[in-house]
Amino acid sequence: MLNKTVSQSSSADEILEQFHRSRKHSTDLIVNLNPEDCQAQSMEDASPAKWHLAHVTWFYEVMVLKPFEEKFAYWNPEFAVLFNSYYNGIGDKHPRSKRGLLTRPSLAEVIEWRKNIEDRVIKLIKEKSSAELLWLIQLGINHEQQHQELLLTDIHHLLSNNSLFPAYESQSHHIPTSEKPFQWIKGVSGLVETGYEGNDFHFDNERPKHSALNQTHSIGNRLVSNSEWLQFIEDGGYQHFQWWLDAGWAWLQTEKISAPLYWNKDAQNQFFRFSLYGNSLLDMHAPVSNISYFEADAFSRWASQNLTGFAGARLPTEFEWEAFARSNSESHYDLFGKAWQWTSSNYSPYPGYQPWGGIAGEYNGKFMVNQMVLKGSSEYTPVGHSRDTYRNFFPTHARWQMTGLRLAKDGI
Ligand SMILES: [Fe+2]
Repeated sequence: MLNKTVSQSSSADEILEQFHRSRKHSTDLIVNLNPEDCQAQSMEDASPAKWHLAHVTWFYEVMVLKPFEEKFAYWNPEFAVLFNSYYNGIGDKHPRSKRGLLTRPSLAEVIEWRKNIEDRVIKLIKEKSSAELLWLIQLGINHEQQHQELLLTDIHHLLSNNSLFPAYESQSHHIPTSEKPFQWIKGVSGLVETGYEGNDFHFDNERPKHSALNQTHSIGNRLVSNSEWLQFIEDGGYQHFQWWLDAGWAWLQTEKISAPLYWNKDAQNQFFRFSLYGNSLLDMHAPVSNISYFEADAFSRWASQNLTGFAGARLPTEFEWEAFARSNSESHYDLFGKAWQWTSSNYSPYPGYQPWGGIAGEYNGKFMVNQMVLKGSSEYTPVGHSRDTYRNFFPTHARWQMTGLRLAKDGI
């Protein structure tokens, strides 16, 4: 059913422990939210928190319990339609743009359903620990982790639509950020190993491991900061077509884009940024985030000609980024945990790519067009969900995710 991916290095006990942790983490994320917060959908790309909590539960019910439980029965067969995201192989789906209109089931009912499915999954792991079952549980855990990040990005977007800019949580202490001096680091050139090889959990889009050819290049030691982005704005970066791809220029004009998402100005014309901690004066030293691919690309072209020390700047390819991360795994180049980093690589299959078999085959492969690869992870990414072979992907205009950039250039 699952091609050659049914292997894992974790034991049933370890997977059970990861399952408990990931399920608890999801419900922890809504502790500060009221049922109305969990209900609303701010735009088509974003889903209500309640929908995320339900969908990850649907995933276990359909992918794990249905094929493995001896006397399987749906908790409620109608949920199979309401919380199917994009799996045509499973059947009908409630329209994505109308997820916020699903006032039934209630949040309380979704939580009750979650508990039922959890108990049944735990029972199953204890009774049958076949490699295929354990792999599917790991897929369920990793899937839920992806939705934990989406839940936060979607709540961030939802709360940004409230004129009072309510905080999702209070910041217990202010963590001052410092900006390291920018430096070019010599990248790994020649034939480089790319992609995942091993038995720990990974997605099918990370395979197979293969060689990619990197030309001689350099990579930035840190992410582009808000202060650098402000210089781009003040230099008219959003007003000059020459920095922009044609599609980006059209997008910018249609959408009236003039700053990263969540930036706003006060009466004194000072920039603030809305985050999950509320609206605060823009932290100049923090990495810029919530920018589209179009913006990242335009910034690199502008920086190449206008920022001292940035001559030749461009976006890295995913292969340059991955080789850099692999050769610097112990270093502090903001590779992970700050902002996803746009690359100039199209989200395409690796040579020899095979989607997983069965229903899970719809997970990644069918999205391999019109999207760009992002590497690293963000401050919203759950612990344990990052690796250098990970390939995130979004369309060129998307910017409600925590997306930033790292620069590269040809030569040393
Ligand atoms: Fe999903």
